[in-house]
Amino acid sequence: MESPIIVALDYSSEQSALALARKLDPKNCRVKVGKELFTATGPRIIESLHSLGFEVFLDLKFHDIPQTVAKACHQAACLGVWMVNVHASGGRAMLSSARQAVDDFDGAKPILIGVTVLTSLSDEALKEVGVNATAEEQVLRLAGLCVEEGLEGVVCSAQEVPLIRNNIKSKFSLVTPGIRPTWAAKNDQHRVVTPKQAIKNGSDYLVIGRPITASDDPLSALNKINQELA
Ligand code: C5P
Repeated sequence: MESPIIVALDYSSEQSALALARKLDPKNCRVKVGKELFTATGPRIIESLHSLGFEVFLDLKFHDIPQTVAKACHQAACLGVWMVNVHASGGRAMLSSARQAVDDFDGAKPILIGVTVLTSLSDEALKEVGVNATAEEQVLRLAGLCVEEGLEGVVCSAQEVPLIRNNIKSKFSLVTPGIRPTWAAKNDQHRVVTPKQAIKNGSDYLVIGRPITASDDPLSALNKINQELA
């Protein structure tokens, strides 16, 4: 798969998610299933997307005691997803257990990535939960922990990509949302980056929702972005 695009299927029903997925081409993108869709549909949605030929990023951001997260990662691997994520702030033991669970899985192993600091959290909000570092410092600290525990990358804002690339030298996948082609509406995203700029900055995968899903012609929107990147 050449395309770095992961289409965010932010829907509340299997029917609407599959209606959109059927308009796309699994040769030209992957798809992301998050908490809303997964909670509404259960694992069936993953099977349905797989039968349409898509690779799936299961974006459930696991965060719990090490054993629980390890077992959840094992179940994600059993579902055959391409990528799964956990909160890096769950701590070293939790990250290590997640890594072990994926490594021990007897079959195709999902790519395991971490979530550092949610972009919705300001420095002020971090202080309120007892984190006295700035968001940037905390992102780097948690990304470092992910590297040490063998995770294969992190989700981060496109703005954080240069910071992480300059400070973390190992091969590390950066998955970035907040992407907007120049021709698309920003919606509720504030600090957006174009697909081309995000790749230039060092992103490996681009999570894109509404510029594709809310388009009158989702496949054309997807193809247009892929062409801009080619
Ligand atoms: O429609 P849009 O392109 O804004 O969708 C972006 C997707 O990326 C959504 O699924 C959103 O929840 C997710 N996301 C984000 N910002 C983050 C983390 C995830 O927009 N920091």
